[in-house]
Amino acid sequence: MAAHNILLLPGDGIGPEVMGEVKRILGFLNDKGALAVEIDEDLVGGSAYDVHGKAISDEAVAKAHKADAVLLGAVGGPKWDGVAYEHRPEAGLLRLRKDLELFANLRPAICYPALADASALKRELVDGLDLMIVRELTGGVYFGEPKEITDLPNGQKRAVDTQVYETYEIERIAKVAFELARVRSGRVTSAEKRNVMKSGLLWNQVVTATHKQGYEDVKLDHMLADALGMQLVRAPKQFDVIVTDNLFGDILSDVASMLTGSLGMLPSASLGAEDPATGKRKALYEPVHGSAPDIAGKGVANPLAMIASLAMALKYSLGKPDLADTLDRAIAGVLESGVRTGDIYVEGATRVGTSEMGAAVLSKFEALLAA
Ligand code: IPM
Ligand code: MG
Repeated sequence: MAAHNILLLPGDGIGPEVMGEVKRILGFLNDKGALAVEIDEDLVGGSAYDVHGKAISDEAVAKAHKADAVLLGAVGGPKWDGVAYEHRPEAGLLRLRKDLELFANLRPAICYPALADASALKRELVDGLDLMIVRELTGGVYFGEPKEITDLPNGQKRAVDTQVYETYEIERIAKVAFELARVRSGRVTSAEKRNVMKSGLLWNQVVTATHKQGYEDVKLDHMLADALGMQLVRAPKQFDVIVTDNLFGDILSDVASMLTGSLGMLPSASLGAEDPATGKRKALYEPVHGSAPDIAGKGVANPLAMIASLAMALKYSLGKPDLADTLDRAIAGVLESGVRTGDIYVEGATRVGTSEMGAAVLSKFEALLAA
């Protein structure tokens, strides 16, 4: 088997620390012969800006195009607050999403039983929660043109962002959601603002039409995005797959992450279309959490979302769903044993730092593989 090409982009803040734990697991898999990997590493975000004067170099983007999977840590931090808008750290991430056409962003929100008490909601509302937000990632208001601030004759300014969607963009993300629902519990809820936005109206129509093209075995509901936000904190277990646009998906996935106990727990996969010739799809995996500059460099960040992102890569890009499952079980096992980083700490638990948490997951992973 040819080795899998993996590009690591640790990025800024806690990114390099949590990525360190992923490197450790990849090294273990490689040494054991369980997964042949060739690893390359590059810069993204503020760390790329410091070296190249932009948030990602063309060379790094070219490497990302060629990789079987890109793993990204986090971007951003106060150090780059004054940087020109087009060079801000986030621009590196957005360019990767757009250039690689990673239109489907999968954000699972799973509440590990051991963490149900760390959730802001009551245990019975979140215990056993397992939902998947499918966020459209390359369209909508993030990329629509015009996007500008102009000067008005009266001395004021005018800012415009453009929310725009075409049929094919809605259709392809709807299909991803329906197909995922089929291997889950078979339900999709589509969220938009059809009562206020034309793009919401089209979203609603296209999702409904796509559903009729061979996906009628899946149960489809529509919900206004604001109502869905409310339902997410009222009764989150009513949902299975939620499909929504770029901006609503950004917001709703942050809400969903807090149901699980900590933003430090949520992984994500951003996938492109399947290449009909090779069956491969471009893919980037990243935790949903940001660069957490306040705790960066202290060795206390929670690496579990980054490790769970590696599990998603094993499943969706590296052809190892069994290893992915075992790694997820290792995470759950470590949590059950009471080992916790500060963000998910509860009284009586063993408080550990980033590398101790990574080591605990690796040793549980090894034990599960040997069993
Ligand atoms: C996310 C982040 C990004 C986004 C930022 C860092 C540009 O919040 O992945 O959810 O808004 O998409
Ligand atoms: Mg976000």
